[in-house]
Amino acid sequence: MSTDIYYFTGTGNSLFAARHLASRLDATLKPMAADAGTARIESEADAIGIVFPVYYGDLPVLVRKHLERWGDMKGKYVFAIATFGGAAGSSFQTMKGILEPKGVHLSATYGLHMPQNAFRKSWEDNDRLLDKAKGRLDRIADDARSGRTGINYPMFFMKPILILLHETFLPLYYKGLRKYSNASLGTDYDTLVHHSDKSYASMEVCNGCGICARVCPVDNIVLEEDRPVWLNRCENCLACYDWCPRSAIAGGISQKNYHYRNSRVVVADIFRQKSR
Ligand SMILES: Cc1cc2nc3c(=O)[nH]c(=O)nc-3n(C[C@H](O)[C@H](O)[C@H](O)COP(=O)(O)O)c2cc1C
Repeated sequence: MSTDIYYFTGTGNSLFAARHLASRLDATLKPMAADAGTARIESEADAIGIVFPVYYGDLPVLVRKHLERWGDMKGKYVFAIATFGGAAGSSFQTMKGILEPKGVHLSATYGLHMPQNAFRKSWEDNDRLLDKAKGRLDRIADDARSGRTGINYPMFFMKPILILLHETFLPLYYKGLRKYSNASLGTDYDTLVHHSDKSYASMEVCNGCGICARVCPVDNIVLEEDRPVWLNRCENCLACYDWCPRSAIAGGISQKNYHYRNSRVVVADIFRQKSR
């Protein structure tokens, strides 16, 4: 069985998961960010995996738009893994809503508890979480190899609870995004996300190294006079904020002075996300 694994990452958790799976399944890793200019996404593989981080209880905008551009993937074994700090929210519902009208059946969905990249959870041990995740990914690989279907995270009885929680938090997410993007009431979700980089600024310690621009999966940063300038197509992935070697970026949704990057991933891995 040939397998393509599409992934999107900001701080490395989803890449860590996608890479581990790919090694177990002898699969090809495909960064979704590299498909920015592709109007129709096609794959020759028999099976497709999708690994992504949960943002605001849903799919990242880039992932949603990637799925919307899928061509004919009917008949393939498609499985999805949401990495998150707490819960998958509505992300699989959104995914099904896009894929099912295309005739693509989501064969299995999995939630993967990973370190929270946006705020500190002092009671969690990140290394232990990553080791535990590896075990779960091994089992997911076994499922994929045997073409096991019908595995659904969240379980059917949890779904309404998670969706209700998501609906409850949504106004708060919108409020935060409006603040960061300096936008008015009624601004649509995608614009709020893309413009939330208006809250970012580089601090005095910035030495103009340009790593922020290189890690940005959507080329949303240019350097002007050795300082980053954001172009309002932000995905909120925190890559610029968290991969800055001098922690010289302030603003955005991350808890103040909290920085996270997956300890098993290096910055060069993040650079590669933009190339096939
Ligand atoms: C903008 C943003 C929104 C997030 N929203 C959620 C959320 O709604 N629920 C959750 O459990 N984790 C949330 N997280 C945490 C990430 O989903 C989690 O840490 C993920 O594993 C990060 O993946 P990455 O390292 O591949 O970018 C959010 C993170 C960011 C940056």
